[in-house]
Amino acid sequence: MSKSIQTLAQLVELKDQIRRHNHQYHVLDNPLIPDAEYDRLMQQLLVVEQSKPDWITADSPSKRVGASPLLAFDQVQHQVPMLSLNNVFDSEALLNFDRRIKERLKKQVGTDISLPITYTCEPKLDGIAVSLQYEQGLLVRGATRGDGNTGEDITTNLRTLNTVPLKLLGNQWPERLDVRGEVYMTQSGFNTLNQKLLERGEKTYVNPRNTAAGSLRQLDCRITANRPLLLCVYGIGQVQGWQKIPKNHYDILQQLQQWGFRTNQETRRVADAKACLDYYDQLARQRDQLDYEIDGVVFKVDNLQQQQQLGSVARAPRWAIAHKFPAQEELTQLLKVEFQVGRTGTITPVARLQPVKVGGVTVSNATLHNMDEIKRLGLREGDSVLVRRAGDVIPKVVRVIIERRLHDNQAIIAPDCCPVCYGPVEQITGEVALRCINGSSCATQIKQAVHHFASRKAMDINGMGGKLIATLVDQKLISTAADLYNLTQKQLASLERMGDKSANNIINALQASKQTQLDRFLFALGIPEVGESTARSLVHYYGKLEPIMMASEAALKHVNDVGAVVATKITQFFADPHNRDMIASLQRAGLGWPEYEPQKQLQTDLPLQGKVYVITGSLKSCKRDTLKARLQTLGGKVSNNISQRTDCLIVGQKAGSKLNKAQAMDITIWNEETVVAQLQSLESGQ
Ligand code: IVH
Repeated sequence: MSKSIQTLAQLVELKDQIRRHNHQYHVLDNPLIPDAEYDRLMQQLLVVEQSKPDWITADSPSKRVGASPLLAFDQVQHQVPMLSLNNVFDSEALLNFDRRIKERLKKQVGTDISLPITYTCEPKLDGIAVSLQYEQGLLVRGATRGDGNTGEDITTNLRTLNTVPLKLLGNQWPERLDVRGEVYMTQSGFNTLNQKLLERGEKTYVNPRNTAAGSLRQLDCRITANRPLLLCVYGIGQVQGWQKIPKNHYDILQQLQQWGFRTNQETRRVADAKACLDYYDQLARQRDQLDYEIDGVVFKVDNLQQQQQLGSVARAPRWAIAHKFPAQEELTQLLKVEFQVGRTGTITPVARLQPVKVGGVTVSNATLHNMDEIKRLGLREGDSVLVRRAGDVIPKVVRVIIERRLHDNQAIIAPDCCPVCYGPVEQITGEVALRCINGSSCATQIKQAVHHFASRKAMDINGMGGKLIATLVDQKLISTAADLYNLTQKQLASLERMGDKSANNIINALQASKQTQLDRFLFALGIPEVGESTARSLVHYYGKLEPIMMASEAALKHVNDVGAVVATKITQFFADPHNRDMIASLQRAGLGWPEYEPQKQLQTDLPLQGKVYVITGSLKSCKRDTLKARLQTLGGKVSNNISQRTDCLIVGQKAGSKLNKAQAMDITIWNEETVVAQLQSLESGQ
């Protein structure tokens, strides 16, 4: 979105613009544009200043880091400035950086240019840079970066983070030590916090970085203490009286770890620039699985003597570089909002966007959840919006850039009828979503319900894909899943692009699907809130279909996994005559399954009934599967991912992001010894 700079006046305007964004980002914690857009403006300034050196002024944003500190906090002078990093965006620029380093070292100290440089590679955490000063091993001051020379004294706030050591471990620390690192918030911590703010009707945060910044610079440290903030350190500033100074950056990190700091687990030392590129690729692939945001990787010349020989330029060291990932937030335009109907009739607004690349993927649609979300965002058609795609999450519109609203854009109005079947819509009590209540005759709902019914984890009907189902519904050959079993070979063969052979295959697949299992059948029915696991629990508990269909809400709540909401959904589903008819037709068509002995008694008496466990890291004393089986035998459930429902995380060695996530969510954590002891006592019935 940046215009090319031809005149001095345009340059002045560009610098003003960057200054305004600096202020919004660093002082107000309220960025108006995505980081990628900011990087482009800054890059543009650097390019112009490089080609026209006499246009450079001392107050240019290219000569400063960050922004002036807030006056609300005392100021702290950094003895060693807190520098920024230069960025590269592709491999070629990284290799050029490596070449420049070698040339400089050759010129300065005659180093052989053919010798590779060893680098330490670290993720570039997207948080707030802090400096922590220790005297005789005790934390005396903590500060933000501010403008790089003067930061804000946020000692009281930093002391509330339990990842900030108040006293260093061990004993051979320097007399004075200034540790540098990043305070950040995990993705899960961010989601939970925003959820809480939303429930209290308070303003939510845009992203974890912005939230971490806001949380850290609270004047009331009790607020900071309640926020899931973490510190990860990546270097040092001023040091005095250090007896055994390491020779390499990597060894400094190891030492910091021994003194009780967290360093990033993904940190690696590599032999040359090519290995840096491999590291970048590997981390880019891992990025979506991490529970914290990284916006790139940082490569640092490992040898401290070489670092010194290379020195720094105005804003950044020559010995380090940030290799940025594709941005996860971008600006684009909201073209219009459309309303989609889901399998159970829920009507969801979807943003149709001017296509834009976010995180390396072209995004042209984003979810808007419901009308409340549209209201909260203050969204209107035609608005400039900030779109975010983090992790494997579906793209989201995170905010409207009101400053860019040029016209009185059109407000978005909730539909008063179903956009597909034009049937009536209603707002279910206790829910924000609108719903089309015409389920049995709304074409979209029928298509999705049949698609779900035929899917692999449900009835697994080979060849029954979305396109064929849409044709069958549109041509009125089916109106429920049960109608599938009345289709004839002739009907199928007469469809466009369907030969005799394909039609035969489908008839055979339908026939083969008739012998199934009850849990698959239950799941296939598409009862709201009943996924595979709940379907299995219901079958385990009741053994047969009929008692499930007749069960009361109160009785259903005894089943593992079934709470009040799910129990209501189940009874409502089976009370609907349309659903009962469909089940009867399916049984008439010959669908069948083996029946089991109900496990009612056994289930409710188990000591770990209803408890959800997650296991992470490698275990010493037994195999993960064995531990899982022992927990399950006692009624526990073992899940792969941490969520609100997790009761306990069991950690083995080298536990990764799950541990951070569990800590951030205040979930009970057991080590291997604890769980083994607990299991032994439960198994022996004590
Ligand atoms: S080193 C002298 N290492 O990125 C080098 N910075 O754009 C100073 N950051 O202010 C920084 N992860 O807030 C370094 N592993 C890492 C980092 C990192 C995140 C941030 C830090 C810094 C900014 C520079």
